[in-house]
Amino acid sequence: MTRTFETVGVVGLGTMGAGIAEVFARAGMRVIGVEADEAALERGRGHLSTSTSRAVAKGRMTAEQQAALLGRITFTISREDLADADLVIEAIPEIMEYKRGLFSDLDRICKPSAVLATNTSSLSVTAIAATTSRPAQVVGMHFFNPAPVMRLVEVISTVVTEDGLAAEIADLARRLGKTPVTVGDRAGFVVNRLLLGYLNHACGLLESGLAGRDDIDAAVKLGLGLPMGPFTLLDLIGLDTSYEVCEVLFRESRDRRHAPAPVLREFVTAGLLGRKTGRGFYSYAAPTPAVHEPGPRAVVSMVGIVGSGPDVAGLVADLDAAGFKSTVAERSDLTPVADADVVVALSDRPVIELAVRLPHPERLVGLHLVGDRVAEVASTVLTSEDVAGAVQDLVTVLRRTPVRCGDRAELVVNALLYPYLNDAVRMLDSGYATAADIDDAMRLGCGYPAGPFEMLDAIGLERVRDGLRALYAEYREPSFAPAPLLDQLVTAGVPGFRAYAR
Ligand code: CAA
Repeated sequence: MTRTFETVGVVGLGTMGAGIAEVFARAGMRVIGVEADEAALERGRGHLSTSTSRAVAKGRMTAEQQAALLGRITFTISREDLADADLVIEAIPEIMEYKRGLFSDLDRICKPSAVLATNTSSLSVTAIAATTSRPAQVVGMHFFNPAPVMRLVEVISTVVTEDGLAAEIADLARRLGKTPVTVGDRAGFVVNRLLLGYLNHACGLLESGLAGRDDIDAAVKLGLGLPMGPFTLLDLIGLDTSYEVCEVLFRESRDRRHAPAPVLREFVTAGLLGRKTGRGFYSYAAPTPAVHEPGPRAVVSMVGIVGSGPDVAGLVADLDAAGFKSTVAERSDLTPVADADVVVALSDRPVIELAVRLPHPERLVGLHLVGDRVAEVASTVLTSEDVAGAVQDLVTVLRRTPVRCGDRAELVVNALLYPYLNDAVRMLDSGYATAADIDDAMRLGCGYPAGPFEMLDAIGLERVRDGLRALYAEYREPSFAPAPLLDQLVTAGVPGFRAYAR
């Protein structure tokens, strides 16, 4: 039986629910928006009116189209009004007890042919389905924040979902202008499983003191070209949701990298949940520009550079163009840089062993150029403040954003990127999703410029494998060890995942 979906109920009109209602109404469907009480209903109406007014202001919609779109949505506090809906999507808080109560109500109220969907980011769709007398007609339909913008919908079918229903829901997602990726019911599905591991890892690096909030955000946004740094994104998702997703991932994976970072618990307990409450890692109520007191600066007339290869030649040329003299040394013989005012060792690995071979170890920092816009500046335990400050200034003169960090394997960007890529390889190897689906999901769900397998191919499998080995050696974190599939592809000389498409 092929169903038609013309009247759609959305229960919960918070940020996600209101966005989902907008997406359906924009596609011409009738929407019944349900909230728990009048105040919440008013807030939901406000979200819809703000979002569509913004589209009008940007010229993406006329005032008439906005009126027609809003006219297709009815607002109610009575679940009973969902009796005629062909599909109901739940977008209420991630508390199983609430979901169970709601789904047993929907089961009683909705017509027998109606499909019930959950937008849960973390809970088991199977467990939700089991609370109804129609588990075969319950699916996950997972949208991404902001729902009107992000193009992915994860369609989740369970072991009891009726044959063909996931395909119908995927067609519906296409009718909404979205791209569906259909997967089974595992914690975090595709996107959250990969994304939250990485976001939680960023919290861990912050807590370890490796780098600060702004440095990590800048490193990821400018260095990798992702639309947002991890802390800006955590604030957008909501720290409570992020915490919950991590908890659920940990319960299933028992991977301690999924155990929510203590800083998340602290924010959530304090009621600082991110954008929706006006404060999380950043403050949104009255943003104050960060004031950086410039620290002490070493006077630089000669820059020593340790390293070899094209990055060194490029750096020498850039420094020359900016009016600085430089001298270059190979790692095997540091004599040429012994008297330089500052020494930069081009490396993404710890440089302390180079520092201790110099007469002035306090003058050496690690420097890692990331893409065209970022340079990670790694201070060792011996680096003096004024040298680190002078190198940051140099990097700025070279039109790169400096990212200050500690002297650890793979510094910031690759330390965050490689384990995420490794997780994607493990997901592929487990048979949960194809490389193409995982790539689509991360590109369309998070606005990434490339999916993990596209990134792996671009960086080179061997480089990522070796980076993971270095991370494992540094942190002894079991899940940083290269995934066996990655290791085997490198050993077999397979050039990339495109050549290994499954
Ligand atoms: N509602 C409607 N439209 C919105 C919007 C919103 N809340 N926020 C932004 N937009 C629109 C803007 O109107 C603009 O549209 P036009 O280009 O047509 O003018 C467009 O999106 C870009 O917005 P901005 O120019 O204001 O800002 P931006 O370029 O910085 O983009 C962003 C904002 C789209 C949010 C972008 O930063 C991004 O893609 N970030 C990544 C978001 C992400 O990863 N989401 C997934 C989170 S995980 C999740 O949601 C799942 C879960 O279960 C936890």
